Amino acid sequence: MKILVTGATGSVGEHIVKQLLLSQVEVRALSRSHKNTGLPAKAQTVVGDLDNPETLEVHLKSIDSLFLITQSEQTEARFLANQRIIQLAKEANVKRIVALMDYEGNPIENIIKESGMEWTIIRPSEFMKNALYFWADSIQNEGIVRTGFPETLSVRIHEADIAAVAVKALVEDGHHKKIYNLTGPQSLSIREMVRQISDITGKPIELIELTEEQVRRNSKHQGYDDDFIEYFIIGMAKNPPKSAYTILDTVEQLTGKPARTFAQWVTENKYYFV
Ligand SMILES: NC(=O)c1ccc[n+]([C@@H]2O[C@H](COP(=O)([O-])OP(=O)(O)OC[C@H]3O[C@@H](n4cnc5c(N)ncnc54)[C@H](OP(=O)(O)O)[C@@H]3O)[C@@H](O)[C@H]2O)c1
Repeated sequence: MKILVTGATGSVGEHIVKQLLLSQVEVRALSRSHKNTGLPAKAQTVVGDLDNPETLEVHLKSIDSLFLITQSEQTEARFLANQRIIQLAKEANVKRIVALMDYEGNPIENIIKESGMEWTIIRPSEFMKNALYFWADSIQNEGIVRTGFPETLSVRIHEADIAAVAVKALVEDGHHKKIYNLTGPQSLSIREMVRQISDITGKPIELIELTEEQVRRNSKHQGYDDDFIEYFIIGMAKNPPKSAYTILDTVEQLTGKPARTFAQWVTENKYYFV
């Protein structure tokens, strides 16, 4: 079986590549460049750009299944590019597509469902790895986390668990026409996650609570536009939808193993915080 993994150098894709290589599967790992991919030597790195679908055509012609990341921001150009990739995959007789979405899904889902290929859609909750993007630098440099809404709960998921479900759907039968919403095993507040990072790394961390106004100002300074700040940064953090903190057991049901905890994720990644 031959599988093309897009986003292969990303947080989920890197786990998918490693896990696929454990089963007897030929992995083609897509990146925009051959340089510094950090991918295992056993994976064949192929070059292509999701924003330029024709660059994928040659790779799609020699595979059985496709793992497709769909970027959160579905601009019209992105939507059209994804639509073209799906069309090229169908023309190339790709049998199966497994697509990674946001938790709420996105408009490309309908194109996938109507593609005529076997399809599975994966909608994970927020990634545990976001702790790196938002907190690692200030923890490392100052021993501080600055955040708004520290009591907000979320069911963050370990990226390796998303990958484990994707790998099942890629290599096993029985996942056609399935939409899998995935979460981690605990609903944790930011304050609790920071406490766990501190305990596991042995580094004291001060949590400084920002006001709503400060969050708005900082986000603007970081280049986010007003709509994004109101909806995602303030809205989701202040009044998160029930799905953001409701634990699902989908990972365990599908993989037969309990979903990995945040403490496990921190233990694996603690060198980023010290
Ligand atoms: N973070 C979250 O909490 C969250 C939650 C739910 C869903 N998601 C979704 O999960 C998806 C994957 O996220 P991730 O964290 O695994 O990715 P990531 O770590 O941000 O890495 C991005 C990956 O996408 C590839 N990529 C980006 N633009 C590309 C392009 N134009 N052509 C080809 N490859 C491109 C990069 O490959 P190269 O740099 O090697 O080219 C890299 O492998 C995201 O699109 C996001 O919408 C994220």
